[in-house]
Amino acid sequence: MELRNGMDLKRLVRTIPDYPKPGIMFRDLTTLFADPAGLRAAVDEIVWPFFKAKAQIDIIIGIEARGFILGGAVAHELGRGFVPIRKKGKLPHKTIGQDYSLEYGVDTIEIHADAIKPGDRVLLIDDLIATGGTAVAAAELIHRSGGEIVAAAFIIDLPDLGGTARLRDKGIAVHTLMEFE
Ligand code: PRP
Ligand code: ADE
Repeated sequence: MELRNGMDLKRLVRTIPDYPKPGIMFRDLTTLFADPAGLRAAVDEIVWPFFKAKAQIDIIIGIEARGFILGGAVAHELGRGFVPIRKKGKLPHKTIGQDYSLEYGVDTIEIHADAIKPGDRVLLIDDLIATGGTAVAAAELIHRSGGEIVAAAFIIDLPDLGGTARLRDKGIAVHTLMEFE
């Protein structure tokens, strides 16, 4: 993927076959995150569609764990606060939870019950979308908390697994930087 600054971001993603289960091609972003120019370019590219309209975003929400790396940087760039969605049992205060399934398992995610004020406009961030199970569950938590989703943004889309289509079917705008089979 050739960016506007001429950088090929896709080559910074490492692929690990058969991780964490046989048949999964794991798209490893630790190599991109460790590259200073790569990290900066990825954050800039995720942020640019929202930069001019940032008055319409109240809060950035990132999904554990890899969504924290990207979401924290995006929140900093847009001058907004960051709210974590975490795996079950990690948040200390009162939570609401949502079960979901993903490409290689089932899980539960949670958000603090008081993290979103009714009407808060949210930019949802994660590193990658595959089946969309995680992102749809996160969207459900945001809606149950009274938040509105302005858009969801990811570095990697695995379009064959249908996640971006699931989000768009729910009326959620989606921004991604690159695709893998
Ligand atoms: C990965 C990725 C997304 C999710 C995408 O997280 O970071 O959150 O899978 O898959 P889906 O679209 O099929 O739901 P994972 O659950 O592996 O957790 P981690 O970030 O803690 O490693
Ligand atoms: N999350 C779900 N599917 C994934 C994949 N193939 N690579 C990395 N993270 C993922």
